Amino acid sequence: MLLTGRVSELKKLRLGILGSGKGSNMVAIADAIAAGSVPAEIAIVLADVADAGILTRAKDRGLPARFIAPGKFRTKLDEEAEAAYIAALKEAGVELVVLAGFMRILKGEFLRAFPQRVINIHPSLLPSFTGLEAWKQALDYGVKFTGCTVHFVDQGVDTGPIIAQQTVPVLSRDDADTLHGRIQVAERQLYPLAISALARGLVRVEGRKTVTQSAG
Ligand code: GRF
Repeated sequence: MLLTGRVSELKKLRLGILGSGKGSNMVAIADAIAAGSVPAEIAIVLADVADAGILTRAKDRGLPARFIAPGKFRTKLDEEAEAAYIAALKEAGVELVVLAGFMRILKGEFLRAFPQRVINIHPSLLPSFTGLEAWKQALDYGVKFTGCTVHFVDQGVDTGPIIAQQTVPVLSRDDADTLHGRIQVAERQLYPLAISALARGLVRVEGRKTVTQSAG
């Protein structure tokens, strides 16, 4: 059954948000939920950086937020840490894992624990400019438009089925900071919209594609 009613009538999707940085996407999602436009609730916020802004900003909003040490690797979680993240998310009853600037690659066990239930936002129009500092890659390449992409996370890096994209123009006077700033404004609009569509059951995955029905 598709849930397309008013937000107040819908069951709320429980989100687990993972971040490493300042948490502007988490704040945008929390604000959209508070405004009544996303039928979801933030069940827990987790970070792999002890003093990450995302933890402070979550606690300021009264949201449960925890640092979980990532273990011995630089770009991924070690086995013990992966198990701790999975346990914390399961204990919080998380139904959708939302990566918001989480700087570690999640694979294997983690994805099997939340099949097609992990999403990410990437600061480019995928499949262009995967990986780090995608806005710089776009600027250096000379594209006239870039943007941001919300996608399901699969075993690859920035390769999962695309849920939503928003374009951002590259202006001739742009430097990396101005372009990144404009992309982040777009991210803060796009992520809540994509989560809202998922929470309403409007997104269907068909192979490597997704189909989103308009809210009825
Ligand atoms: C975002 O710009 C996103 O593109 C990338 O990490 C950044 C996180 O920023 N994946 P914030 O912590 O949400 O402010």
